[in-house]
Amino acid sequence: MDLLKQKIQSEGKVLSNQVLKVDSFLNHQIDPVLMVEIGKEFARRFQSERITKVLTIESSGIAPGLMAALELQVPVVFARKRKSLTLVNDLLTATVHSFTKNETNEISVSSKFIASDDRVLVIDDFLANGQAALGLAEIVNQAGAEVAGFGIVIEKSFQEGGQSLREKGYKVESLARISSLENGEVAFLEELEV
Ligand code: G4P
Ligand code: NA
Ligand code: NA
Repeated sequence: MDLLKQKIQSEGKVLSNQVLKVDSFLNHQIDPVLMVEIGKEFARRFQSERITKVLTIESSGIAPGLMAALELQVPVVFARKRKSLTLVNDLLTATVHSFTKNETNEISVSSKFIASDDRVLVIDDFLANGQAALGLAEIVNQAGAEVAGFGIVIEKSFQEGGQSLREKGYKVESLARISSLENGEVAFLEELEV
């Protein structure tokens, strides 16, 4: 997605060979115009998948998840990372370990909001090692529902998440795929735009 790649090139800050900072449009401040286009692009890529629900994770997945859900005309639910006062009964949960942050979170979704006949599009802002994505898929499976695919805003293709999800047979659509952050520069994976 060219608009997104241009935004990454102009505003992204390479913090290390592993980490890209994009807090001016995705992770802190949010660009609503870009987010609308991201939603449209996800909807286009998953239009034939009969999606009935979008599932994402707080906090940075919510903006792209909401925009995808709006375009697909389905509800969006976000997994919580912290215990909620009111979210106590009938939880679907998964344990997610972040290698980047070296912390483990229990993520949860109320079983009320994913039904066994749902076809779920999982949306997230970043795909690194894939632990969050796998945790979300586990929650969908616990509900007896179907993962229709993963929509990722920025995939770091030099980390293992994308490959491991695709090897499991999932459809993974990433709007920008970064092949390297070496030498302080963002390099994108060359691919044919469809
Ligand atoms: P994984 O789920 O793919 O295994 O990823 P990982 O544990 O490495 O990611 C932990 C957190 O760091 C996630 O955000 C993820 O989105 C974010 N992250 C990973 N790599 C990058 C990167 O290169 N740049 C930025 N900006 N973020 C990255 P989170 O803790 O869930 O935070 P948030 O959703 O509240 O923003
Ligand atoms: Na994030
Ligand atoms: Na995220």
